[in-house]
Amino acid sequence: MSRILQVEDLIQEFDLTQDLLDRIKFKHGRFSVEQQVVHAVNHVSFEIEEGEVFSLVGESGCGKSTTARTVIRLQEPKSGRILFEGQDITHRKLKDLRPIRRQMQMIFQDPYASLNPRQKVLDILTEPILFHKLAPSKAAAEEKAIYLLERVGLSAEQSNRYPHQFSGGQRQRIGIARALAVEPKFIIADEPVSALDVSIQAQILNILMDLKDEFGLSYLFIAHDLSVVKHISDRLGVMYLGTIVERAPKRQLFQKPLHPYTKALFSAAPTIDENKLSQSQELKGEIPSPIHLPSGCLFHDRCPLARPECAQTMPQLREVEPEHFVACHLAGAEGSAADSVKGGICL
Ligand SMILES: Nc1ncnc2c1ncn2[C@@H]1O[C@H](COP(=O)(O)OP(=O)(O)O)[C@@H](O)[C@H]1O
Ligand SMILES: [Mg+2]
Repeated sequence: MSRILQVEDLIQEFDLTQDLLDRIKFKHGRFSVEQQVVHAVNHVSFEIEEGEVFSLVGESGCGKSTTARTVIRLQEPKSGRILFEGQDITHRKLKDLRPIRRQMQMIFQDPYASLNPRQKVLDILTEPILFHKLAPSKAAAEEKAIYLLERVGLSAEQSNRYPHQFSGGQRQRIGIARALAVEPKFIIADEPVSALDVSIQAQILNILMDLKDEFGLSYLFIAHDLSVVKHISDRLGVMYLGTIVERAPKRQLFQKPLHPYTKALFSAAPTIDENKLSQSQELKGEIPSPIHLPSGCLFHDRCPLARPECAQTMPQLREVEPEHFVACHLAGAEGSAADSVKGGICL
């Protein structure tokens, strides 16, 4: 099996005070220059093998979309390395990036925003096929577009309609068909079902999984909800304040989460087990601002198990069990973090 994507030590920041005038503050009778930087992605590393579904999960604002946009080079990385099929694309110029971009397509939460409202669905799908010369004629491109539409559960008759004439779930189907139109190898699906009714969510997830097998795709799947990724993921990374705090194959993560934050995420997930619900507790405090990151372990001030060292040293991701990585000073120690957290947070 070969590796489709490798992300190494990725850092992404947003400087909120790019304008020099914004930076100059007048305090206590003196001028000073202040910088406000959002540390959205902090030292993120992961890899995705061909045919694999790797999911990033975590609460809103933890840096999932920024990671995705940076990986696909919609945003320039601050530092780190991005390798696609072994090729370093971290700083590749736009012109040289184009053929690789075609291989990496993105599906968004709100497909409506990325569909041209003035184009009929057939044109939305045919245009990129012709642009990338993936069909020998307009007729062949249209035939391919219709095949894709039918493959995502829409009909040929619907191809002459405009995006606003479809429901949310149907528009997501169009978004998927359009991503596939350029014959990608790798799909980033950023919360593709978060805006949909639960019954429709399952349909869209099933389509994505069927297409994966038919077209030999690999996925980076993003969700804030563990239940969405439970069935489709091969491996997962749990994000908190722009870092991956735990990374493991699905079975290990769901059966034995090791990071206190992952445990809290699990106990916040909806359950029909009333006993479990009554046991769960709120994690203390709010998520800190990514402008002022806490010292040491980014989770320490909310962690029920934090010890003094946790406020001082940032834990690195360690392989605590085979293929199971966790960034916690206490994980792996006898009778420690892993076993004793009962938390609950609102997703
Ligand atoms: N263009 C931007 N400018 C400034 N801050 C941003 C920008 N994009 C995202 N952020 C901030 O970066 C953090 C991570 O955001 P995001 O990646 O969208 O999180 P998620 O997708 O997990 O909800 C948030 O604090 C968000 O406000
Ligand atoms: Mg997002």
